[in-house]
Amino acid sequence: MIAPSLLAANFYNLANDVEMLNNSEADWLHLDIMDGHFVPNISFGFPIISSLKKHTDLPFDVHLMITDPDKYIQKFKDVGADIITVHYEACPHLHRTIQAIKSMGVKAGVSLNPHTPINVLTDIINSVDMVLIMSVNPGFGGQSFIENTYSKLNDLKALMEQKNCKPLVQVDGGVNIQNAGKLYEHGADVLVAGSSVFKAENPIEAIKELRKKN
Ligand code: DX5
Ligand code: ZN
Repeated sequence: MIAPSLLAANFYNLANDVEMLNNSEADWLHLDIMDGHFVPNISFGFPIISSLKKHTDLPFDVHLMITDPDKYIQKFKDVGADIITVHYEACPHLHRTIQAIKSMGVKAGVSLNPHTPINVLTDIINSVDMVLIMSVNPGFGGQSFIENTYSKLNDLKALMEQKNCKPLVQVDGGVNIQNAGKLYEHGADVLVAGSSVFKAENPIEAIKELRKKN
């Protein structure tokens, strides 16, 4: 699946970009929420998400790069989140946070920064619907893909086998037509793509090509 990241869209004319996604083979809409605290950048918030919800049927895949996400998960559900992913590094009580998301009827994901090893998921992986492997340091679009991601995907696959579970595997950051195929081969189910979709000459074709690599 492909989840284009709105962060790379044209904020002067979001309607145009959402319309393009509605006419494309995109599977989800990836929404990057940054608080200027957990990550060194600030993106957008509730009013943007609720406005978009009225104009697309794409599932909203909300990636929370914020400190203390527990405070805001209800609000993200209310504005239309279908999947909420929190960062392992931002959640001292991760199990409680995941349960809270699921109790609202929303799918729950956990994300790992590039330096965080897979084994920290040992006691939570059976409770999550998705694992998001960051393939750049979170905070900005347009960065280069970190090659160590492949080895993390191998480790994740091994842990999933050991724990006998099958959460969706999502990869986010620097995804493009050159690495998409190899990411699918390493077990990725959902690829987030910002720049490689919205900065492409033909975004609809770019989404199609990224999906075809599977
Ligand atoms: C980075 C975000 C990504 C970002 C990806 O912190 O989580 O979702 O938008 O952008 P590209 O695909 O340009 O690396
Ligand atoms: Zn993201």
